[in-house]
Amino acid sequence: MSLQQGQIASDLALALKAISSATDLEDLKQIKIDHVGDKSALAKANQALATIDSSQRAEFGKLVGSARGEVNQAFEKKSIELANLRDSKVLLTEKVDVTLNGRRTLKGGLHPLTILTNEISDLFIGLGYKVAEGPELESEWLNFDALNIPADHPARTMQDTFFVEPLDAKLVLRTHTSPVQIRTMLYQKPPIYVICPGKTYRADELDATHTPVFHQVEGLVIDENITMADLKGTLDYFAKSIFGSEATTRLRPSFFPFTEPSAEVDIFFNGRWIEWGGCGMVNEKVLVACGVDTKKYSGFAFGMGLERTLMVKHGIIDMHDIVEGDVRFTQSFGVGKR
Ligand code: DAH
Repeated sequence: MSLQQGQIASDLALALKAISSATDLEDLKQIKIDHVGDKSALAKANQALATIDSSQRAEFGKLVGSARGEVNQAFEKKSIELANLRDSKVLLTEKVDVTLNGRRTLKGGLHPLTILTNEISDLFIGLGYKVAEGPELESEWLNFDALNIPADHPARTMQDTFFVEPLDAKLVLRTHTSPVQIRTMLYQKPPIYVICPGKTYRADELDATHTPVFHQVEGLVIDENITMADLKGTLDYFAKSIFGSEATTRLRPSFFPFTEPSAEVDIFFNGRWIEWGGCGMVNEKVLVACGVDTKKYSGFAFGMGLERTLMVKHGIIDMHDIVEGDVRFTQSFGVGKR
């Protein structure tokens, strides 16, 4: 192969032009193969140095060497330039505005019924009570018979009670928390101070004031010298803690098979009397059925609906709000509060 100055100059010019025309690193990669790498014209000219007459080698050697040096320099410079260009484009297209507000996911909130249950539990624990629990699927005997509710009591009919199949197993979804009184007296010796908050079931349609699945809190005290005055004092304290210091309670004579005497509890709240729950002195028949020594012990019991308590306390007029689980309702009671 022969070498000509003109050829080297034009190879150099071609290489420099190609390099300067590159618009991105991808372009430059191909240009490197064509004009800088081992197969480029200048690399070939370099190889050809070995074959030319030695008298010309030094002169052409310099020429080719400086041409290749120039191309390499131009290539390096362009590489840096295009890499910078790519980086600034990436910065632009992938830019993040760190001053923007983050996206928040809503924290789940405790349901107001749970908050109320905790509040009531805390309050009675403060009075030395224990929190008792019983099953929601309850024996008919504990839900009715042991509580002195006779077999022909209307509450037992298909209308009110969810009987669970097979019917001869005599199981019901508990219609109140009162069976927990029985369970407690059967398993614990007096003195007994318990409250039992929990889920209860009745065959009601869901409407503004009813729900088939609801909650009650039951209270039971068995000790020596317990009188109705203790019951009244406890209910007053309960009412004031939940509804505020202005609230008071009133007992109206009533009837429950498991208490004697029995009373309805009303609370005075926001300027009027509102029915709140039931209460009374535990019926001697119930105490006897549970093996409590009635010569030594007497007791009181009470039971309230928690939905009702919540509705009165917060002026909620539609049960649907409590049942449906719309987070906007829950939020108004303080999301995430424990
Ligand atoms: N168990 C009754 C009900 O569901 C409420 C009740 C009334 C509970 C009087 C009591 C009580 O403990 O003494 O309607």
